[in-house]
Amino acid sequence: MGKITFFFLLFTLFLSHFVASSLGKRQSDVLGKFYKAKQKKDSSIDKSQFKAALNHVDLDKVILPQEGQKEKDWIKKLPGQPPVKFQQYGGYVTVNESAGRALYYYFTEAENSKSLPLLLWLNGGPGCSSIAFGAMEELGPFRVHSDGKTLYRNHYAWNLAANVLFLESPAGVGFSYTNTSSDFNSTGDKRTANDNVVFLLNWLERFPEYKNRDFYISGESYAGHYVPQLAHAILHLNKRSNKTLINLKGIIIGNAVINEDTDNVGMYEYFASHALISDQTFLDIQKYCYSDFYNEEKCNKAGAVSDNNTDNLDIYNIFFPLCHDGNLTKHPKLPFTLQFDPCSDNYIYAYLNRRDVQEALHANVTNISYDWEACSDPLFYNWKDSPLTIIPLLEESLANGVRVWIFSGDTDGRVPVTSSKRSIKAMDLTVDKPWRSWLYGGEVGGYIETYKGGLTLATVRGAGHEVPSYQPARALSLISHFLSGTPPPGNA
Ligand SMILES: *[C@@H]1O[C@H](CO)[C@@H](O)[C@H](O)[C@H]1NC(C)=O
Ligand SMILES: *[C@@H]1O[C@H](CO)[C@@H](O)[C@H](O)[C@H]1NC(C)=O
Ligand SMILES: *[C@@H]1O[C@H](CO)[C@@H](O)[C@H](O)[C@H]1NC(C)=O
Ligand SMILES: *[C@@H]1O[C@H](CO)[C@@H](O)[C@H](O)[C@H]1NC(C)=O
Ligand SMILES: *[C@@H]1O[C@H](CO)[C@@H](O)[C@H](O)[C@H]1NC(C)=O
Ligand SMILES: *[C@@H]1O[C@H](CO)[C@@H](O)[C@H](O)[C@H]1NC(C)=O
Ligand SMILES: *[C@@H]1O[C@H](CO)[C@@H](O)[C@H](O)[C@H]1NC(C)=O
Ligand SMILES: *[C@@H]1O[C@H](CO)[C@@H](O)[C@H](O)[C@H]1NC(C)=O
Repeated sequence: MGKITFFFLLFTLFLSHFVASSLGKRQSDVLGKFYKAKQKKDSSIDKSQFKAALNHVDLDKVILPQEGQKEKDWIKKLPGQPPVKFQQYGGYVTVNESAGRALYYYFTEAENSKSLPLLLWLNGGPGCSSIAFGAMEELGPFRVHSDGKTLYRNHYAWNLAANVLFLESPAGVGFSYTNTSSDFNSTGDKRTANDNVVFLLNWLERFPEYKNRDFYISGESYAGHYVPQLAHAILHLNKRSNKTLINLKGIIIGNAVINEDTDNVGMYEYFASHALISDQTFLDIQKYCYSDFYNEEKCNKAGAVSDNNTDNLDIYNIFFPLCHDGNLTKHPKLPFTLQFDPCSDNYIYAYLNRRDVQEALHANVTNISYDWEACSDPLFYNWKDSPLTIIPLLEESLANGVRVWIFSGDTDGRVPVTSSKRSIKAMDLTVDKPWRSWLYGGEVGGYIETYKGGLTLATVRGAGHEVPSYQPARALSLISHFLSGTPPPGNA
């Protein structure tokens, strides 16, 4: 029974990313593909427990010389960019020479003190870009104006708290590419983790001053898989080489895909408790999709009712307006200072497809044959492996002294807080400090609960799936506390 619901989640995750994102013309297109792929593919994904396939990786062969590369990657200024005091870099790191796979990164050094930790950010999908979402509309230093060609500052960028590295992964996402087209048909969680760790080893050669720096990995959504899988690969490599190759201190995942069944039930629980579907529909889904009374027909029927009920709203932020006019404007609209612009995806698409922008970023140097997109379909439809749960990897990180935080924007309906709570419950941990509010600016920023063994759950009040887009100040406060290992101040 898990199967159908699993694919339902996976495909709706993907589908809604498009629906919520830009380019209206793609929506019906994707819907058709979605149904086709759902029928065709639902038995070919390997769902067994994740294990890094790194035993045969010879570090001497995959770590390539990086002299002079850092200087070449330095970004003087992005088109339409306001002046800033920190340095930015962007470029490619080859992760597999024989296949010709190279991952694109964008790095923003910390604004005030370069001695701050190194923080990697990953978006999910699978197949979605960390530049599209993370860098350009969530936690990066700039956001794109409605003219699609000029930028304005995000005053709550995470490079106030860390040196932030955005990585487009796996190859095929955004500017990251492969010269071996069959790679599109052999990519999955394992390939992603292996290429990402090879990326990091090479990147640290290119930026050796960060080699021993405290290192943290962050991400959202399907990066709930990528982040702990990369942590697993790092722990594995450090152990194998008896050396701290990468100084991993902590991982943090937001509105994250963690554990199939709890993620799914939690989504419908959220819909019902937020008056989007009826209690009866939720009860039907629970009974016919997730219990011993499983009944495929009735499960699908209740799921279809839920789908209809949640049409025409942004499931990624249930109280938020949709994008009604995403056309570029001749002159920039006044940037929303308190509210995120729901049409941002369109501005970013226009900006990142500009030749001058790509040149400044040192991106697309090989003239990739397709446009830059926020999410990649070919990768998604051929995804090879995706375990049912990543709980064992969270436990592994905790057992190795790696700090683990799970955060949740509490107005997201896609991987909502009810899902995260159920997934944590499935880990059967003992509460250390019980549920309490945490404060920011004299108001509740969210709620927090800590568990014995080092796990923290923190919600962000009023934030959707992309937490830093909707609550930038609260998100910055949260990440700062995560990095310093101190819970935000609050009321017991
Ligand atoms: C490079 O990628 C190919 C798949 O495209 C794979 O077969 C090969 O093992 C990879 N090489 C290394 C060193 O990981
Ligand atoms: C991919 O192919 C292009 C064109 O031949 C080449 O310039 C580039 O270096 C290759 N990429 C990698 C990572 O080998
Ligand atoms: C990848 O798989 C698709 C079908 O899923 C097929 O149409 C395509 O030819 C394959 N591409 C390569 C390069 O193997
Ligand atoms: C790591 O240490 C173990 C035990 O001390 C030793 O057997 C092994 O050869 C070492 N491995 C490397 C790569 O140095
Ligand atoms: C969902 O809405 C469509 C279009 O209005 C309708 O045809 C379909 O019967 C509805 N499905 C359910 C299960 O209510
Ligand atoms: C957006 O642009 C399209 C194509 O130029 C045009 O047809 C449409 O009317 C515009 N939408 C709005 C709301 O102005
Ligand atoms: C890529 O295309 C541009 C023009 O669109 C051209 O100037 C450049 O030489 C091309 N680069 C490569 C590597 O083919
Ligand atoms: C790369 O550049 C070419 C033009 O040289 C362009 O057609 C293509 O859309 C670009 N692709 C990406 C992924 O940026």
